[in-house]
Amino acid sequence: MSEKILIIEDETRMRRVLQLVLETQGYLVETATDGEDGILKWKRFLPDLVFTDLKMPKADGMAVLKFRNQKFPHTPIILLTAFGTIPAAVDAMKLGAFDYICKPIDNEIIIEKAKAALLTKKAAISSAQKTDQPVFIGSSLAMATLKKELALVASTNTSVFITGASGTGKELAAKMIHFLSARRSQPFIRVNCAAIPRELIESELFGHIKGAFTGAVQNRTGAFIQANGGTLFLDEIGELPYEIQAKLLHAVEDRVITPVGSTDSLKVDIKIISATNQNIEKMLEEKKFRSDLYFRLNTYTVFMPSLEERQADIPELTEYFLNFFSAEFGQTTPVIQAGAMNDLSDYDWPGNVRELKNVLERLVLVSNGLEITKEMIASLVKKKSVEIRTGKEDPPPKDLFLQEKKMIEDALAACGWNISKASRQLGITRNTLRYRIKKHHLNP
Ligand SMILES: Nc1ncnc2c1ncn2[C@@H]1O[C@H](COP(=O)(O)OP(=O)(O)OP(=O)(O)O)[C@@H](O)[C@H]1O
Ligand SMILES: [Mg+2]
Repeated sequence: MSEKILIIEDETRMRRVLQLVLETQGYLVETATDGEDGILKWKRFLPDLVFTDLKMPKADGMAVLKFRNQKFPHTPIILLTAFGTIPAAVDAMKLGAFDYICKPIDNEIIIEKAKAALLTKKAAISSAQKTDQPVFIGSSLAMATLKKELALVASTNTSVFITGASGTGKELAAKMIHFLSARRSQPFIRVNCAAIPRELIESELFGHIKGAFTGAVQNRTGAFIQANGGTLFLDEIGELPYEIQAKLLHAVEDRVITPVGSTDSLKVDIKIISATNQNIEKMLEEKKFRSDLYFRLNTYTVFMPSLEERQADIPELTEYFLNFFSAEFGQTTPVIQAGAMNDLSDYDWPGNVRELKNVLERLVLVSNGLEITKEMIASLVKKKSVEIRTGKEDPPPKDLFLQEKKMIEDALAACGWNISKASRQLGITRNTLRYRIKKHHLNP
């Protein structure tokens, strides 16, 4: 998997030499002749590293650096500086450039610095993965404000209530709060209130003792105890049956729980985060959700903006997911055809980041490490909006994963496991189908 380097330099000779030196090292190189051209190419080439001259016609190196800070803050920049532009280079370093190289350039130094910059980027990504730090992409104003809010609520023991449409990143935000808090090395326990049968919820939350009810063959530790010292994330809280809400209120208020069938109360130390995509105000009015519980849970409300409201983040999210899936499938990150990024930015993404992520996963597969074309995007995005439209009339099963699995199983059965036929019937490529078969562990 070659790493990609963009060179922005107006001097032809200089640009060619750099390109040659880096290509000989096996990097994939794209070049631009001024800052404006550079920014344009950046958006579709999605480089891992950028070399830029400082003094250039149209947009200069500083403008390139500002663009980077806004859209691709994780991509390192190395400045090419000539004698006499050192003060400007110092300013650029202050703006976050990774390093600089003085002209006339030395081939060895170029290679050495490129390697160092790429390694630093990789190390930053893998150390984030090692510590399980959630990766939260987005530098738009809305996201910057949100990140500050998350850090703020992480620094106190406040109960946090997260709202926002499906796929906007509520669960990711909850993990982020936990990670930013002093509890980060303690457990983060998620309870999906929508996925647990009503009769088991109480035991799931508070635990039970052996013999408490039929089937309780041994003691069970509930989520409140598992999360002790850390964070309890009550996801899809709007689905919690009304009769359980009173019991939860008591536990939340006093941080004391009683396992089902037990008479002993246990004290817990937890931070509580809850989330829903339901209209909770309406549920309060209709008395489907207890207002006393709601006021306990939402000492602070975090609202996740829809992707449509923060279109500016789409290029950065795209870069991240393209790299992510390409690494997962062991292939080179594809480039995006000129103008095609706009098609991604213009779509309204009713399924928010989750939908964008799914579309990019498929684009990585169909592009096979080459180019993502406007046609590829049009075919996927159009299909999506049709699915969503039919979804409104007839809500799909809660679990899309299971729904997808069933569709694939049905198609395969109908075609006698002929991959080509089944993929045509499903309107996806053979590669995608093979990947899905593996993901769902399907066998003939
Ligand atoms: N800012 C972001 N950066 C990177 N990935 C993101 C971001 N926001 C969301 N995602 C990814 O998008 C997917 C959906 O996010 P998440 O599950 O947190 O959404 P949600 O709001 O909980 O949705 P739902 O209401 O449907 O449960 C996840 O795979 C998540 O990692
Ligand atoms: Mg969720």
